[in-house]
Amino acid sequence: MNTQPTYLMTDAAAFDVAYTINPWMKPDVWSADPAAHRRAALDGSTALRFALEDCGAVVHTVPAVEGQPDLVFPANAGIVLNGKALVARFRHAERRGEEPHFMAAFENLKAQGLLTEVAFIEGCFQEGAGDCIWDASRSLFWVGSGPRSTPESAQIIAGHFGQQVVHLPLATEQFYHLDTCFCPLSGGEILYYPPALTEEALRRLHDLVPAHLLIEATAEDAAGFCVNAVCLGRTIVMAKPPLALRDRLTERGYNVMGVDLSPFILSGGGAFCMTLRLDLKSVVARAAIRADSELVAG
Ligand code: ARG
Repeated sequence: MNTQPTYLMTDAAAFDVAYTINPWMKPDVWSADPAAHRRAALDGSTALRFALEDCGAVVHTVPAVEGQPDLVFPANAGIVLNGKALVARFRHAERRGEEPHFMAAFENLKAQGLLTEVAFIEGCFQEGAGDCIWDASRSLFWVGSGPRSTPESAQIIAGHFGQQVVHLPLATEQFYHLDTCFCPLSGGEILYYPPALTEEALRRLHDLVPAHLLIEATAEDAAGFCVNAVCLGRTIVMAKPPLALRDRLTERGYNVMGVDLSPFILSGGGAFCMTLRLDLKSVVARAAIRADSELVAG
């Protein structure tokens, strides 16, 4: 059995910032020098892939599609757990054209044996892992709703995957996906930006996570898309962090890898949403796999 962490990314060759569906998007800045921004985007995407590979991950790539610039954010394409992919329904017409391309990419991963089941989510808007983040330490999904995913998505996800879901309504348009303001780390800590969550969400978070495991990001950390990070073992890969954030995470025993993702920040995205983890397993599924391989091992 392949036990390497596995991610999906998208070729950034067709990335640009052509419309505005979140407050960070700056088409005018992009169009001032599209060629330079495109080059920087390709470099940033390659650097991110290399960072994941340096951590021992395997990265599969979705081909670029002209006219679908936000296809570079596969975290929004679906939720994947225990080999099951639940494919997103986008809120905005600008991104709905991505759905069939991601569906085809997931079917292709299934044909390669990397997924066992692929289905579209029905009855709500839901923007994939952007609003549904697996917490391996607690074996549950943190589910965001508000600007993009609808609140009903929480129950639908819980039913589909048979997992515990904690619903965290989002408070602002600026932090429009949960992954812009919330990041569970491998040691059980949660890096998060409190003003992005409603009172109700903060209450649920504080009920479940003791204070010493809560790491509050600053406004600067959040605006730099550093909360939108990929945590792999003791390494955290993120858009270039402010020094103070790097120090705080290093003190807790993490190795922080900063990548220049500035072209993607012009679209409102960072490291986490440029990736989608494909091999996450819940505790029960992991135990079943172990039992299975013990049987095979005889
Ligand atoms: N321009 C994209 C959008 O607004 C950026 C998505 C970034 N994804 C994320 N999960 N934060 O949909």
